[in-house]
Amino acid sequence: MKKEILVLMLCTMVIIMPFTQSMLEGPQEVEEWFKELPYKKEKVTKLHFYFHDTTTGPSQTAYQIAESNVSNTTVTQFGRTFMFDNPLTVEPDVRSLRIGKGQGFFGAASFEEPRFLMNLNFVFTQGKYNGSTLQFLGTNPIFHRVREMSIVGGTGVFRLARGIGSAQTFFLNDTSSIVEYSLMVIHY
Ligand SMILES: *[C@@H]1O[C@H](CO)[C@@H](O)[C@H](O)[C@H]1NC(C)=O
Ligand SMILES: *[C@@H]1O[C@H](CO)[C@@H](O)[C@H](O)[C@H]1NC(C)=O
Ligand SMILES: *[C@@H]1O[C@H](CO)[C@@H](O)[C@H](O)[C@H]1NC(C)=O
Ligand SMILES: *[C@@H]1O[C@H](CO)[C@@H](O)[C@H](O)[C@H]1NC(C)=O
Repeated sequence: MKKEILVLMLCTMVIIMPFTQSMLEGPQEVEEWFKELPYKKEKVTKLHFYFHDTTTGPSQTAYQIAESNVSNTTVTQFGRTFMFDNPLTVEPDVRSLRIGKGQGFFGAASFEEPRFLMNLNFVFTQGKYNGSTLQFLGTNPIFHRVREMSIVGGTGVFRLARGIGSAQTFFLNDTSSIVEYSLMVIHY
């Protein structure tokens, strides 16, 4: 092999390498991950945090996006729906360490009692969970002591996740709430 060609090849390798590395975070890397799936072991991760929902004032993070024709005239405000981007913290105090956001919507989905449809993503931003997400779906009768809802999927370290999230109200008034979430997640 001619010297020039070898030098050219080496240069090409050096240039291509970083691209190959970053490509490995995309569909190729996911494909590799799936190929290794039969050899992976399921693990259980327990997560615990506080979710801060505020519908008015300077720290508002939840905004009404829809209502039905009967939202004003039903006791359960049927159909009233909020989109939110709520902080998740390790302690009930909103100024404690923020580990991510709860992003999605909830809407009043019952004529009988205050009960919300919850449809949201937990988007984590700390430590080994940084960049990973969990998809959360369920029915939330907000005045029950404990509400059990489903984790129906995940991304990043939580690929193919499933699990259960228990919500308990820590604080509630007309304009804000702090909800304690305890999650049990199965993933690989
Ligand atoms: C909502 O109520 C308004 C006023 O009564 C009416 O014009 C409209 O058709 C209603 N919309 C629906 C979707 O029922
Ligand atoms: C419900 O009440 C709000 C506030 O008074 C009003 O702006 C809105 O138009 C009402 N919606 C319907 C569907 O009547
Ligand atoms: C989380 O990841 C983002 C993007 O990679 C990075 O900018 C940020 O510094 C990371 N945060 C922490 C707390 O590690
Ligand atoms: C609800 O509680 C929050 C946090 O303590 C407070 O800032 C807000 O003023 C309260 N709202 C009402 C309507 O009492």
